[in-house]
Amino acid sequence: MRILVIESSPHRNGSSNLLASAFIKGAEEKGHQVTVFDAARSSIHPCLGCGKCGMDGECVQKDDMEELERLILSSQMMVLVTPLYYFGFSSQLKLTIDRWYSFTSRLSARRMKTALIVAAWDSNDWTMTDIEHHYRTLCSYMNFQNMGEMLGTGCGSVTMTRASGFERKAYEFGKSIGD
Ligand SMILES: Cc1cc2nc3c(=O)[nH]c(=O)nc-3n(C[C@H](O)[C@H](O)[C@H](O)COP(=O)(O)O)c2cc1C
Repeated sequence: MRILVIESSPHRNGSSNLLASAFIKGAEEKGHQVTVFDAARSSIHPCLGCGKCGMDGECVQKDDMEELERLILSSQMMVLVTPLYYFGFSSQLKLTIDRWYSFTSRLSARRMKTALIVAAWDSNDWTMTDIEHHYRTLCSYMNFQNMGEMLGTGCGSVTMTRASGFERKAYEFGKSIGD
């Protein structure tokens, strides 16, 4: 299966990308073909809300979203990777999601498989409540098949992440993805 991993942290070698790398290792060992798109190092501008696309047309903005749209629509699974920022997605990921607006109809018709990988500093039992809820609502609206969530609490730095046990869990999560 073609899996697209969308990373979104300003830290190229940070906690969320460490978990993503472990997931990718497991998924590739399982035989999946993985492509990484780094939204934090791309030129993607926020949705203008102009409505010219009619949610199923061409976006008036010409930036790296053109490449990402092609990648998304040619993949069977998409993995959203983010640090937890004030209980939600990073801005880099959120503005990327907002730009799905121009191909919402085509995207929701695909019934794509998706997963979420998050790294957060805190370990309270409510640390991931809101991002998980937001992600699940997005899955319902977009007809995504949620394959699971890797919610890395206590993953505030690379050292913390390595000690947390979530790297191993992310690897096993990747390895568990079927066709
Ligand atoms: C702007 C900002 C907001 C953050 N908000 C939260 C938060 O709400 N809860 C939390 O546990 N950690 C929060 N953190 C900590 C990061 O989620 C944490 O350090 C994470 O490991 C960063 O992942 P990265 O290395 O992939 O960027 C925040 C960090 C920043 C810079």
